[in-house]
Amino acid sequence: FAFTTKSRSIVTMAANEEFTGNLKHHLSELFDKSLKLTVPDVAGVEPLVAASAPEKPGDYQCNNAMSLWSMIKGKGTQFKGPPAVGQALTKNLPTSEMVESCSVAGPGFINVVLSANWMAKRVENMLINGIDTWAPSPPVKRAVVDFSSPNIAKEMHVGHLRSTIIGDTLARMLEFSKVEVLRRNHVGDWGTQFGMLIEYLFEKFPDTDSVTESAIGDLQTFYKASKAKFDEDPDFKEKAQQAVVRLQGGDPIYRNAWAKICEISRTEFAKVYQRLKVDLEEKGESFYNPHIPNVIKELDSKGLVKESEGARVIFLEGFTIPLMVVKSDGGYNYASTDLTALWYRLNEEKAEWIIYVTDVGQQQHFNMFFKAARKAGWLPASDKAYPKVDHVGFGLVLGEDGKRFRTRSSEVVRLVDLLDEAKSRSKTALIERGKDKEWTPEELDKTAEAVGYGAVKYADLKNNRTTNYTFSFDQMLNDKGNTAVYLLYAHARISSIISKSGKDIDELKKTGNIALDLAEERALALHLLQFAETVEEACNNLLPSVLCEYLYTLSDRFTTFYSNCQVNGSPEETSRLLLCEATAIVMRKCFHLLGLTPVYKI
Ligand code: ARG
Repeated sequence: FAFTTKSRSIVTMAANEEFTGNLKHHLSELFDKSLKLTVPDVAGVEPLVAASAPEKPGDYQCNNAMSLWSMIKGKGTQFKGPPAVGQALTKNLPTSEMVESCSVAGPGFINVVLSANWMAKRVENMLINGIDTWAPSPPVKRAVVDFSSPNIAKEMHVGHLRSTIIGDTLARMLEFSKVEVLRRNHVGDWGTQFGMLIEYLFEKFPDTDSVTESAIGDLQTFYKASKAKFDEDPDFKEKAQQAVVRLQGGDPIYRNAWAKICEISRTEFAKVYQRLKVDLEEKGESFYNPHIPNVIKELDSKGLVKESEGARVIFLEGFTIPLMVVKSDGGYNYASTDLTALWYRLNEEKAEWIIYVTDVGQQQHFNMFFKAARKAGWLPASDKAYPKVDHVGFGLVLGEDGKRFRTRSSEVVRLVDLLDEAKSRSKTALIERGKDKEWTPEELDKTAEAVGYGAVKYADLKNNRTTNYTFSFDQMLNDKGNTAVYLLYAHARISSIISKSGKDIDELKKTGNIALDLAEERALALHLLQFAETVEEACNNLLPSVLCEYLYTLSDRFTTFYSNCQVNGSPEETSRLLLCEATAIVMRKCFHLLGLTPVYKI
């Protein structure tokens, strides 16, 4: 082959071992080979490879020596102790361009130093072939993410907002991993409350067809008024109960009224999704309703369904109460619907990973019907095996007073108002900095949106999701600290470094070299290269906070790099501009996965 200098990076790539972008995997494979050579008689030992903490020597550690020693000692081994095992593992490590050196420390930790040259090539490679080459590849083709899922005519509250934000990120991470994701909005659009709502609609608006959203005003108030009437007026109650029967029997007039109420709610929900740019496909509870009898029949035929006080239930080991699947009046409930939806997702939609995002308060419900599905043989006995189900629970949203998040008049917060406030506050901050004079009104508006909505999302995602989190506009819109504002601005700054250089960055990508001579350059490149394993971890453990932490550290590494290494006008300009570009690309991919819109100017 005769290559021109332009395709130099491509030559290097072809000459290299196959590399997926995941350093941890790659090192684990090397140590796996070494383990097999070092202790051929010990089977099934997983390599224990982890990134080292920044202040520790080496870039990665392999920690197998100690546990391996306890497995082989006293069994006629040639080794004298864990450090000797470590030495042997090091000696048997296949040579690789990736590894610069290896050393054994203390009781047998193996510290691995990566080759700076190799790292530089990997970054160059990503610049040429794109960051998608660093995507994880989970062992599933299709997944369902069941998220947001508000209830028709009831409030869509901050809990649903959390579910929307977290669920969207999980879906994005899977989509990045080339998994087909069915983004399901499992709205509460079925149940006895509809009898009362329909009856109330008939009374208030005898001409149902012409009812518009604005006539009803706000469905929550409508819901409250109809509930009050239901509780007070026995005649109305009677009619409402009959309305349920008619609706469930398929009476077109009642179906129509139901559809109308759903439509109005849907329009409300859509405003939130539009602002957040979240895609969802509605398949509400009503969708599964016709399938419920068959599913119950199947569970019954497996001997799972028992009579209990007139209801039909499934008893489950480890739970004090049984799971009710048919109520004593013969009606179905949340659990019957969820079992049926699970059946449908597994059998009709062929999903291999089904992820539910709700507050932790619903954990027991999920644990119970997951267990019932395992008993029915729908899911493998091990909760690690596929097809797999996961409940992603999250904590409460608190106000700054530490209580449940409410408005000042202690009303439920309307999500649209909340998002509008985030945007208007970020716009005010931009105007205070004089941006209304520099930018077009569209630019100002777009940036206010990106920053405002981004702040709400990031403030939620950066927390360990299971803990409660305090909603504070002041905190989330701060331009210092671990906030979306800080990160979006960091990215804008990097973009301006690149544009100020006046260089054609796409041309540099093809021809330029990266050199990692200084510690700050090397540390930045290492962190960039750890993107792949981080997304994989965030995706496997369904933890967006892992990605947020990575992003924040990235911007930190960049700041250290930029304050110590002159970029524009230095002899290393090309290499350093390429590091800037790689950082911007990784940051943008993180933003994308977190549902944030990047900004380019500040
Ligand atoms: N509608 C429910 C609620 O507002 C959430 C539904 C979650 N999804 C599910 N398949 N159960 O609490």
